[in-house]
Amino acid sequence: MALRLYPFPAGSAGAVSGWAMTNEEVIMWCGHPGAPVPAEQISAWAREDGVEQFGLYRDERLVAYGELWVDDAEAEVELARLIVDPGERGQGLGQRLVTELAGLARSRYSRVLLRVHPDNIAAQRCYAAAGFKPVEPHQAAEWNACQPVGYLWFSLVTKRIPAMPIIAALARSSPA
Ligand SMILES: CC(C)(COP(=O)(O)OP(=O)(O)OC[C@H]1O[C@@H](n2cnc3c(N)ncnc32)[C@H](O)[C@@H]1OP(=O)(O)O)[C@@H](O)C(=O)NCCC(=O)NCCS
Repeated sequence: MALRLYPFPAGSAGAVSGWAMTNEEVIMWCGHPGAPVPAEQISAWAREDGVEQFGLYRDERLVAYGELWVDDAEAEVELARLIVDPGERGQGLGQRLVTELAGLARSRYSRVLLRVHPDNIAAQRCYAAAGFKPVEPHQAAEWNACQPVGYLWFSLVTKRIPAMPIIAALARSSPA
């Protein structure tokens, strides 16, 4: 199965809008007060500071959506608003989406974070399977002080690995 992550085309917001149909799921997905989240709202997220939208495609078909929130001031990236097409869940796509987004995030900053609604068991398992670990309780408490719910915060802290000189040299000499 060929899975690829691409920048999200604004014209696909309508499809993603139809993926979370209950108030409960919408709240756990993105905190929006009710279902469905209008396509215009999803398009508007792209204009928020630091937000980058991505779609995961299986061949030509959009199967999942997620965002990076790039914070240059804090030198960190948060993964946010991840969602898989409900007809495609339970096959590893969520884990693949997290892994792809985390890889992109890590190429920007080594500190990669995400938050999860405490009732969202599926998402918690998905992030744990992709290598995220809970942050220290005091850190979570500090970040939750101004949040509407007590989110569970996870981090993937990795060091940037410098390219080996020989690999870098090979890369420079490879054909375009
Ligand atoms: C959370 C979500 C992205 C997971 O996507 P998915 O494609 O079904 O997940 P995967 O198939 O990759 O499964 C990853 C892990 O989650 C577990 N999982 C998936 N759905 C689950 C469920 N309903 N209940 C319990 N565990 C579940 C899987 O067993 C797997 O864990 P394992 O590796 O320990 O077996 C998907 O359920 C979703 O889109 N939910 C609605 C939006 C949302 O809540 N987003 C999260 C915002 S923080």
